[in-house]
Amino acid sequence: MYRLTAEQKNRVRALLGEMTLDEKIGQMNQESVSIVGGFDVPFEELIEMMTDGRITQEEFEKIMSTAQQDYHEDDIRAGLVGSLMVQDPRKCNELQKIAVEESRLGIPLMFGLDVIHGYRTVYPIAIAEAGAFDPDLFTRTARMAAKESRTQGVNWHFAPMLDVARDARWGRVSEGPGEDPYLVSQFAKTKIKGLQGDMSSTENYVAACLKHYVAYGACESGRDYNTVSMAPSMLHNSYLPPFKAAVEAGAATVMASFNDLNGVPCTVNPYTLRHILKESWKFPGFVVSDANAIRECVNHGIAATEPDAGTQAANAGMDVDMGTQIYKKHLKAAVESGEVPMSVIDEAAERILSVKMWLGLFDRPYVPEEAMDRYEVLPEEHRALAREAAEKAIVLLKNEGDILPLKKSQKISLVGQLAASREEIIGAWAMSWRESDCVSIKEGLERAGAELKYFPCCGPETEINRDDVEAACQYGDVIVAVVGETDAMSGEAASRADITLPGRQRELLGKLLASGKPVVACLMNGRPLALKWEAEHVPAILECWHLGVEMGPAVANVLLGGKNPEGRLASSFPAVTGMCPIYYNHMNTGRPGGRSKFTSRFMDAGFEPLYPFGYGLSYTSFTYSDLTVEDAGDELRAAVRVTNTGGREGVETVQLYMQDVTASIVRPVKELRGFTKVKLAPGETKSVTLTLKKADMGFYNDAGEYVTESGLFRIHAGGSSRDCLTAEVTVNF
Ligand code: GLC
Repeated sequence: MYRLTAEQKNRVRALLGEMTLDEKIGQMNQESVSIVGGFDVPFEELIEMMTDGRITQEEFEKIMSTAQQDYHEDDIRAGLVGSLMVQDPRKCNELQKIAVEESRLGIPLMFGLDVIHGYRTVYPIAIAEAGAFDPDLFTRTARMAAKESRTQGVNWHFAPMLDVARDARWGRVSEGPGEDPYLVSQFAKTKIKGLQGDMSSTENYVAACLKHYVAYGACESGRDYNTVSMAPSMLHNSYLPPFKAAVEAGAATVMASFNDLNGVPCTVNPYTLRHILKESWKFPGFVVSDANAIRECVNHGIAATEPDAGTQAANAGMDVDMGTQIYKKHLKAAVESGEVPMSVIDEAAERILSVKMWLGLFDRPYVPEEAMDRYEVLPEEHRALAREAAEKAIVLLKNEGDILPLKKSQKISLVGQLAASREEIIGAWAMSWRESDCVSIKEGLERAGAELKYFPCCGPETEINRDDVEAACQYGDVIVAVVGETDAMSGEAASRADITLPGRQRELLGKLLASGKPVVACLMNGRPLALKWEAEHVPAILECWHLGVEMGPAVANVLLGGKNPEGRLASSFPAVTGMCPIYYNHMNTGRPGGRSKFTSRFMDAGFEPLYPFGYGLSYTSFTYSDLTVEDAGDELRAAVRVTNTGGREGVETVQLYMQDVTASIVRPVKELRGFTKVKLAPGETKSVTLTLKKADMGFYNDAGEYVTESGLFRIHAGGSSRDCLTAEVTVNF
């Protein structure tokens, strides 16, 4: 929890009183370690030159190898830098020493980095981890990342990413916890607890950074950085809740998003930054822009010049400028001209100094030498945690004829370039991992003693090797095809207009199926895919995502039956791309989608997702019965009986949804309001009770007011957003 003691507050105020205007603005300036050196074009231009072929990749790399990195030492010495993006502990200490021992006031630096799903020990991407529906796990993985990174000098994570996302064409679906505000909110709270909660030592916690504030996931058509327009009620009901939950959990920083929101870029948006975040929610930490975002306000067309963008951003409540130097170059003049009140600068500087004080940087600014190499070799307990997360994130989508789990006696033809890849299992936004720490699916199966032969056949971006295919169809009793996306096909600037399996992989599956042998498709992807054809033709489909360093052992354990898959989908899968955006918590409309023509549906695709939010199969089966809902004063208590009707133990994720049937604005057909996991032996039945506070049954109206309205509610309980028992209850608030 980010909170200062009275003594810490006094130290901050005393320091603030000694600072010059330049030094205060210096705290608001975050430098990226820009690439300079032996060439006379800016780094961005160099990228363009390589992209459009004016220079070759080799020439680019040669130039880069001669470039020096600029760590802005002189500016640090002059007190003009507040934070940097650096991840080498010795370099961090070197720069910190300049700040602490050579600048006038000795204010320490913060070092930030995108630690989204692990630092050295990389665990599943968020869209996968969220599917574990395991809040305790979310905390433990974050705590591991905080400990690993803090010993490397990184004391600020640009995480968790909390963008509710409903359009899988957007590449950054991979970085976030999915489409549901409630699940994303649980993810948010638990990640803050993990990153910031263990203050027993400054080596155990970091400042979190809630991003991207706000509604970035609603970018039109799923095209990254695109415009966002929505009703205030939609903003408050679907996109703000995870940020509110995380602020209440004590988050220390927030990152504003690139997108414009209802005409005003979030970088310069006083409604979201000041009115909601700082005034209404009383957020005590500081706000940082996204990379280069202040400069991009000129492109947006909200600012005529860079100085104008800087003035608008500061006045809107943007405390730190990431990487443009606009604050450093222009904010002093804006203050002296009166365009930016001194109070804005004082507030920003105080917020920034307060987080540094809370991080313990004024007292313990350096990384202890003995801590630096603590994770050179990944500790076994870290690997075990990464593997636990990986196993819990895997979702069984289809298992016709119980092809899975595989039998030990079966010879396996393992197919697909992704099956032998170590780097692709990491997924988007992992910064400090080592290929030598990664275990591919092929290695995982071999370690598990599977009898297999490996046939590359093809990957997401290559042609099909027909000899490989022929040999694969000959050898195995069963064919396991690992297909999907490279890690570069999701994440930032990775929107795809067609989210079917890329390349020739669907054709590959067809050729393998023609062998008449059972085929299992293991998906390695960073977003929901449009799997209409695969769902119709492939008998077994396992969603394996990008699971991090322990992906191989985790997938092998599920394939071979050592682990009964328990993952559920945190995002709906469309049958075809054209159904996007698609999500379970949709409005009913006046003509709810059905079979008849004049209803809200696609003539060529219907309206139901292929696989809905919350869905996932098991190697056993579960049934639900006897749902009752008791009005217990300030809460409802929903009880339901769950039975394991299959032949092996399994873990079921019992989900609780509600619907406000009639209200002053239309409300979603379902809204997740609770979940719990229950382990059941074959034949065992348990009664599961989930509570729903009546205070959580309301919604925000277009004025941004939270209201609860008496009337009829439907309460649903089941194993997915589609398969539920339903009870009706009238609630009077
Ligand atoms: C990127 C991303 C943001 C990240 C930042 C710093 O553009 O949008 O998520 O934290 O820059 O790398």
